[in-house]
Amino acid sequence: MEVREALYTTRAMRRMKPDRIPMDVQARVLDAAIRAPSASNTQDWRFVLVDDPDLMRTLGDLVRQGEQRSKETLYAERVAAAALAPDEPANAAFLRMLSSVWYLVDHFAEVPLLLAAFVREGVASDASIYPAMWSAQLAARAEGVGSVMTRVLDVYFHDATCEILVVPLEEHWRMSGAVVMGYPTGRWGVAPRRRVHEVAFRNTWGAPLGFEVAEPLWPERRVESS
Ligand SMILES: Cc1cc2nc3c(=O)[nH]c(=O)nc-3n(C[C@H](O)[C@H](O)[C@H](O)COP(=O)(O)O)c2cc1C
Repeated sequence: MEVREALYTTRAMRRMKPDRIPMDVQARVLDAAIRAPSASNTQDWRFVLVDDPDLMRTLGDLVRQGEQRSKETLYAERVAAAALAPDEPANAAFLRMLSSVWYLVDHFAEVPLLLAAFVREGVASDASIYPAMWSAQLAARAEGVGSVMTRVLDVYFHDATCEILVVPLEEHWRMSGAVVMGYPTGRWGVAPRRRVHEVAFRNTWGAPLGFEVAEPLWPERRVESS
């Protein structure tokens, strides 16, 4: 797969089939992921691949509680706004995301693979492992495997999750997040985002970027200079 296709079409895939991901596919995904950079090349990271249905069920209970807490706190304002004007485009997009989040919650035990990621506290930081996690998602995309980054476990249930996965916390390992993986039920598409000239500047904050991008540049499109 062309790299730009992977960059443009690797989206949050939360609706996935329970089909197992073959070991050779998992090996290619992980082997690509660990090519990613880390600060000072410490590679002070560890990954736990979870495919045990009992463990997934146990983690799924925590995921449900965590997403419920997010809904009541982090997302409370957006939930209220969406209830008032569900057809407004931003609200409609938020409601679609929420519905896919809850689909994942309801089917967590059937998710075929979870890639939990850890860094050693004090030496590395989350920033040192996110490139590897995103590389895993891109490599999975190239294999036709959908994925979504999740932080609900480490944000709300860090120690409980580590206990379930038998992580040696006394060695200062810290969970940074988990990527859920599986073959998607839906189709791949380009992720809609705020346009680049609305979020990027040149030289100083707020100064015009010098070009505008009205539509995604993959597949190939012309860039307008401004
Ligand atoms: C740091 C980070 C944390 C995230 N945490 C969660 C999560 O806990 N649960 C979840 O369902 N999605 C989570 N996501 C996925 C985002 O919601 C998703 O990437 C975003 O909505 C864009 O989706 P799209 O690429 O399909 O447009 C997380 C993404 C990132 C980068």
